[in-house]
Amino acid sequence: MGRVENKIALVTGAARGLGRSHAVRLAEEGADIIALDICATVAGIGYPMATPGDLRITGDLVTEAGRRVVTAQVDVRERQALAEAVQAGVAELGGLDIVVANAGVAAFGRWNDTDGQQWEAVIGVNLTGTWNTMVATIPHLQARGGGSVVVIGSVASVEGLPCAEAYTASQHGVFGLVRSLSAELIEDRIRVNAVRPIGVSGTGMPQTLPAVADVQADTRVGSTFHQGFAADTVEPAEVSNAVLYLASDESRYVTGTAMPVNAGLISR
Ligand SMILES: NC(=O)c1ccc[n+]([C@@H]2O[C@H](COP(=O)([O-])OP(=O)(O)OC[C@H]3O[C@@H](n4cnc5c(N)ncnc54)[C@H](O)[C@@H]3O)[C@@H](O)[C@H]2O)c1
Repeated sequence: MGRVENKIALVTGAARGLGRSHAVRLAEEGADIIALDICATVAGIGYPMATPGDLRITGDLVTEAGRRVVTAQVDVRERQALAEAVQAGVAELGGLDIVVANAGVAAFGRWNDTDGQQWEAVIGVNLTGTWNTMVATIPHLQARGGGSVVVIGSVASVEGLPCAEAYTASQHGVFGLVRSLSAELIEDRIRVNAVRPIGVSGTGMPQTLPAVADVQADTRVGSTFHQGFAADTVEPAEVSNAVLYLASDESRYVTGTAMPVNAGLISR
């Protein structure tokens, strides 16, 4: 028996990076997967998003793991389109037990270089997109009599990162949603938790951009974190293992938390 055997899990931002890792890890442990991703540019964000080919690869990997998969291209900022994609996936696979709100974007730069388009993009995808994902999926979890929502937050959900005001605000907001909804959904037996990793290697999200190189070189603000015991970054699989625990019944009494995956790195 897998740890999420015969459950149905939805993952946003599933075409690459952490989202693909979560989808494959959950499939390896017995879940069928609804994999959603924008697979298109996000205006205001200075690096490319995933491609339709990336999403196909995620689908193939889930199939190779022996589970069913439904993929769809959708922007989590588009509430109606997202609700329709969720509905279609749930209808095809027969329900929904697990939601992994993972889609996210980052923008780094001095506070006074953050333009309106960047701000809207980061808040729109990370905070409003996470909210839209919850709104679109919670009725399906209620119909099942319970479920688990896991939100991918960040070290920035609880710490202030310099040169990342929009990102930090969005990630603090995401943790606020987790705390509020977890309290409200107790009666529905729906658990809501976050995972908050430090930098993750090997995904499409850059850790920093050249615009903040001068800040990093400045020892007063550059070295924000104490050294961790293992590494300055973690692997996607480490984050997905935390997601798997929170998604599974092993954590059946855990809700409203934000689990750090940070190798001991904390802000000074
Ligand atoms: N990489 C890190 O260092 C790190 C650290 C902490 C937290 N996180 C968080 O992990 C999550 C995944 O990041 P990643 O590192 O895998 O980055 P990534 O850029 O590799 O993956 C993000 C995915 O989300 C998709 N996406 C972006 N905007 C979308 C939208 N509007 N609708 C639907 N899909 C959209 C992208 O196409 C991409 O496939 C994000 O929420 C991020 O904030 C990342």
